[in-house]
Amino acid sequence: MILVTGGAGYIGSHTIVELIAAGHEVVCLDNFSNSNPESVRRIERITGRKLNFVEGDIRDGALLERLLREHAVDAVVHFAALKAVGESVEKPLLYYENNITGTLALLSAMQRVGVSRMVFSSSATVYGTPQALPLTEAHPIGAVNPYGQSKVMVEYILADVCKADPNFSAICLRYFNPIGAHESGLIGEAPTGIPNNLFPFITQVAVGKRAELAVFGNDWDTVDGTGVRDYIHVVDLARGHVKAIDYALKHTGMLAPNLGTGRGTSVLELIHAFERASGRKIAHRIAPRRPGDIGACWADPSMAERVLGWKAQLGIDAMCADGWRWQQMNPNGYEA
Ligand code: NAD
Ligand code: UD1
Repeated sequence: MILVTGGAGYIGSHTIVELIAAGHEVVCLDNFSNSNPESVRRIERITGRKLNFVEGDIRDGALLERLLREHAVDAVVHFAALKAVGESVEKPLLYYENNITGTLALLSAMQRVGVSRMVFSSSATVYGTPQALPLTEAHPIGAVNPYGQSKVMVEYILADVCKADPNFSAICLRYFNPIGAHESGLIGEAPTGIPNNLFPFITQVAVGKRAELAVFGNDWDTVDGTGVRDYIHVVDLARGHVKAIDYALKHTGMLAPNLGTGRGTSVLELIHAFERASGRKIAHRIAPRRPGDIGACWADPSMAERVLGWKAQLGIDAMCADGWRWQQMNPNGYEA
């Protein structure tokens, strides 16, 4: 039995679908602080079965302990966290409380019950400003905002737990930029308010919810001057979690592999790929650089292939087509 925290969210919902497809039993915990109960019903529609779902908070240690015992949990996939970089700068304590105190409560409950396997959602943001590309796992760690710091801190905490307990297994997956949606169009990314990230902004321009996209700078040292990122299809990312769980169930110790495609795509390249996939024009204008931004970032994904046997399969065109289907079928996300 796998406990998925934050499983009603964007990446968690896709991962539950892939875990169930791979034959795992799943129990999901979420407090809906950044998600909607409708996503649970959509997961059920895709998988054709009822999902074990518990509404609650990872900071509730007693609830966690009961849940781990009652469901005889073998391993935890831990997505639950707050993730808005700007908000984390304004409200650092909220972020540390949720992401650090929450993870500590979860780890303590796991220790009390004797559950010793965790797959954790880390991020390429732990590398800070890249000193060399592609980013390998040997690149120095140095996050530049409270959200990123919370990922670095949890990685350090998990490394210490692994040192103290030779039976513990922690896989910190350093995600690059997840985009796209399940091919059914039933689940996808549903940001509240104005999207912070590029892809949901593009899909909202395409569907007519936003007038135009601001391209943050065209004077970076990149192929066309616009920012370059390693976009990864969320379904590929979800499948990476299945591989990581299989690995964590068989090995002990700490591992922190990149999950990316190894390919960089510029903002303008992504706009053009999306225009091809959707048949819509994406109105855009060049705007100043976003404070704190980096020019380019992409992964060396070879560790995940070597150790986990995982490699991204889906390209930019599938990411755009699937993201567009989700946006068209659900113009207001999970809101009716
Ligand atoms: P999301 O906000 O869609 O999902 C997170 C889920 O966790 C939400 O459903 C939210 O309600 C839940 N949650 C938050 N705090 C909780 C708490 N205290 N108790 C119970 N549930 C709680 O985000 P996502 O994009 O699916 O990201 C999942 C994880 O991956 C996060 O840890 C995020 O930091 C990390 N990550 C995301 C990205 C990305 O670009 N989406 C990139 C790198 C890392
Ligand atoms: C963001 C997060 C980072 C997180 C990562 C993966 C911020 C500041 N950083 O970074 O912590 O790990 O997502 O989820 O939020 N862009 C535009 N116009 C827009 C939005 C973005 O031109 O309206 C550009 C950006 O300058 C960048 C690219 O698009 O070049 C991608 O931006 P975004 O989707 O926000 O991802 P990251 O910058 O990688």
